[in-house]
Order: sequence, then structure tokens, then C-alpha cells
Amino acid sequence: MHLPHLRKLIEGIPKAELHLHIEGSFEPELMFEIARRNNISLKYDSISSLKDAYRFGNLQEFLDIYYEGAQVLIHEQDFYDLTWAYLIKVHSQNVVHVEIFFDPQTHTDRGIEFEVVLMGIYKALEKGKQELNISFRLIMSYLRHLSEEAAFKTLNMSVPFKQYIDGVGLDSSELGNPPAKFVSVFKASAKHGYKLVAHAGEEGPVDYIRDALDTLKVERIDHGNRCLDDGTLIDRLLYKSIPLTLCPLSNVALKVIERLEDHPIEKMLDLGILASIHSDDPAYFGGYMNENYYETARALNLNKGQLMQLAINAFEASWLSKASKAKHIDRVKHYFDTYNV
Ligand code: HPA
Ligand code: ZN
Repeated sequence: MHLPHLRKLIEGIPKAELHLHIEGSFEPELMFEIARRNNISLKYDSISSLKDAYRFGNLQEFLDIYYEGAQVLIHEQDFYDLTWAYLIKVHSQNVVHVEIFFDPQTHTDRGIEFEVVLMGIYKALEKGKQELNISFRLIMSYLRHLSEEAAFKTLNMSVPFKQYIDGVGLDSSELGNPPAKFVSVFKASAKHGYKLVAHAGEEGPVDYIRDALDTLKVERIDHGNRCLDDGTLIDRLLYKSIPLTLCPLSNVALKVIERLEDHPIEKMLDLGILASIHSDDPAYFGGYMNENYYETARALNLNKGQLMQLAINAFEASWLSKASKAKHIDRVKHYFDTYNV
């Protein structure tokens, strides 16, 4: 397919984003604006010097900058503006459903109330539902470089607000922080009615994916790049229809893979794994949903059928009702059926 056609095809696909850290959608322009109004000085004196720092050798180098940027978020309005900016952006890319992460500990550890963080994000999501017709789910992520006890504190803080939160996740520095560290808090989270997901097999080994399934009992894996290292695990992902939410531009930016051409997603699709494409931290990794689809399709030479499957998989993997999934999937199929180049 000609590249301008490919771009146009991708832009029009109705999309679901299931792997997005709201703090990772913090664009430098908004970061500087919020820093100014909160009288906080950033380590970088200009937008361009901040952007120059966005060259990461690994996950940890990214996380250091990502946590630094989040420090300027203080008031409910700040969290609201951050989330609203993300929704406006993805609305322009035909994203119609989002399931987004937030990292409460990044904020509560600085003395920001849990409620301030949550309500800022939630109110923007609610407005997005009303005004942009974007449905949503919200996932609270535990930071795995901190202790399980700290995660329990976060769980306890969340309980009075659990009607606003759909699930819990596990993110931050993967290596040396295996799923086993969080077994009890995931169990307790499930008892409170939260759905469970975890980052696994991004930088960490394939064992972390197995352990996230076996010990944390998660129903969806974030990233999961390394699953192809284990044939038995592949069978299990297939048999149980366990979704993987992949983030190709993130994987290149964080050196999980050297080049997009090496991305495992095509192999996953060939095997029938429920793999889909998402943006992770789009302000830091060079692209939102359309750019992730486009660059991946270009690098792997994906065809229309594969692109349709990726879009369908994301709705299939979502926490929408059966009826909503069917409605969105029909729309995706109709879009591809009637698309003429
Ligand atoms: N991996 C782990 N933790 C994260 C990421 C990621 O890609 N982005 C934000 N927190
Ligand atoms: Zn992530």
C-alpha cells in the first residue's frame, strides 16, 4: 500500500487504547504551563532542552524523567487538564474507548491527596464520555520499585473511591521486582472487586509473564513481548484468550528492541494471540495511537487484514460489555469492508 494511503486508512480506524499511562501523556508545553502556574521550576530551562533529554538507554532512564515531570501536578485542575489534553488528542485520532493507568504513589508520596489525583482524572474522563463520546475505564497502578506494604497503603486509600476505579495494574522498574513481590496486594485488590492486569515481559524475562498469570491472577498482560520465548506459555495465551497490550514505539524508545522491524507483534498475530497496539507514554516515545499503528505497519509491512485484526483485538481485550464490544467490532469490520484505496 502507498504510504499516504496507509496513513489515511489508519487514521480512520475506530480504535481502543488499553495501555496508556496518563502521566506519560504529559506534553512538554503543558508541563511548562502547569509548572509556571504552580510556581515550580523544572530542571530544564526550555521545552527544547527538556525534549533533548528524551533519549533513553532503558526503562529506568525513562522513568527517572517521567517521575520528574509528574512533580508539577499539584491541583485537581492540573490532573484534569492533563487528562483532557490526552482525550482531545486521541479523539482527533478516532480513539473511541480508553482504559488508562494512573500512578497514585507518584503523587501521594509528595503529599498530594489521592482524591485530588483521582477526581481530576475522573472528571475529565466523564466529560470526554459526554462530549467526545469516548467510553473509559480507569486502572490504578502500583509502583513495583516500592514495597508491597506501600501498595497496600494505596489500595486502602482507594477503597472509599472504588466506584471510580475499575482495576489495578503493576508498573515501573520491572527487573528485580517480580510479580511474586505483590501477590497479597493483588489478592486483596481482587477482593475489593478490582480487575487485575500487570506489566510483564517488557524488560523482564518470560518467567515474569507466567508468574503474573499464576501468582497475581491477572487477566491481561501489558507488553508481554517476551512470551514468544516459551511455547507452553503461547499455548496458554491462546487457550485462555489472554490479551497482550503491546506498545511498539515505546519498545524502540526504551531499547526493548533495536528496530521496529524486529517487533514480535506480527508473529503474535500469526499465532492467533490476542495482541493489540497502544501508545504507553506518547508524550515521551514519539507518538500516539495513529503513529504507533503507522510506524509498525510500515516497518512490518502489515496488510489490511492484519490491521483490522489489531483493531478488533483491542476491543476484544477491553473491559467493555459484550454488546459494546460487538458494536465496535462491527464498526471496525464495516470500515475495512467499505474502505477503498
Ligand atoms: N513500563 C513500566 N512502567 C511504566 C511504563 C513502562 O513502559 N510507563 C510508565 N510506567
Ligand atoms: Zn506501560
